[in-house]
Amino acid sequence: MKIIKLNAIDSTNSYLINLGKKERLTNPTIVVSEKQLKGRGQLGATWQSKPSQSLTFSIFKRFEGIPANHLSSITFAVSIAVYKALNRMLIPQLKIKWPNDIMSHSKKLAGILIENQVKQSEIVSTVIGIGINVNEENFENLPQATSILLSTGRKHLLDEVLQTVYETIFKELNRVEQGDFQNLKSEYEKTLFRKNIVSVFEDTPGNRFNGKIKGVSEEGELLIENEDEIITSYQLKEIKYLL
Ligand code: BTN
Repeated sequence: MKIIKLNAIDSTNSYLINLGKKERLTNPTIVVSEKQLKGRGQLGATWQSKPSQSLTFSIFKRFEGIPANHLSSITFAVSIAVYKALNRMLIPQLKIKWPNDIMSHSKKLAGILIENQVKQSEIVSTVIGIGINVNEENFENLPQATSILLSTGRKHLLDEVLQTVYETIFKELNRVEQGDFQNLKSEYEKTLFRKNIVSVFEDTPGNRFNGKIKGVSEEGELLIENEDEIITSYQLKEIKYLL
């Protein structure tokens, strides 16, 4: 394993993806940056972080012989890993908000951006980017965000959180390599935020409806049951939670 520590970078995910195009990376490689100037989130969003109060890092991991139809297992494994690592640190009321936001007390504590490299229907490698709010005392203009400090009342050392999280990620990714796909999916489903609770959603045509999250499909799509008890699967771009 190789760890690269940077003072500042646009995005740790972009850094690893670009480096991987130029050289054969050590498997695995972790890059952690004190400051991230252009942190990327899901669906083209930005990820804001405060230097020395939060963790921004990415992990490059190579795979061999895993069919691309198991891409969702990487999402399940990484989400479970971050959840388990934070649980071990006694962070209360943890849930995974589909597809991979980590929530505490119904507020977002960590975000995950997974970018896979697929060739000839096999997963070649993945870059897993993780942002964890650790010691922030407040979030201006981000009422839905929380930190480990706000959630537990305790400050944590960034390096300790980093190590606990990446060790757990490697353990859970091992399960992907062992083909433990079904168990990963069912463990992931057990920790889903607002599962079986009536919530308000909006689909891409803009229809609002009440529905209950029932779980995820094999491909990792969200399964929502509407008021007529019909279950529909949605991809990330197709559905918004309004609560
Ligand atoms: C999200 O919640 O939308 C995903 C956020 C992912 C943020 C992390 S921070 C480290 C890594 N580098 C990035 O540019 N993004 C991820």
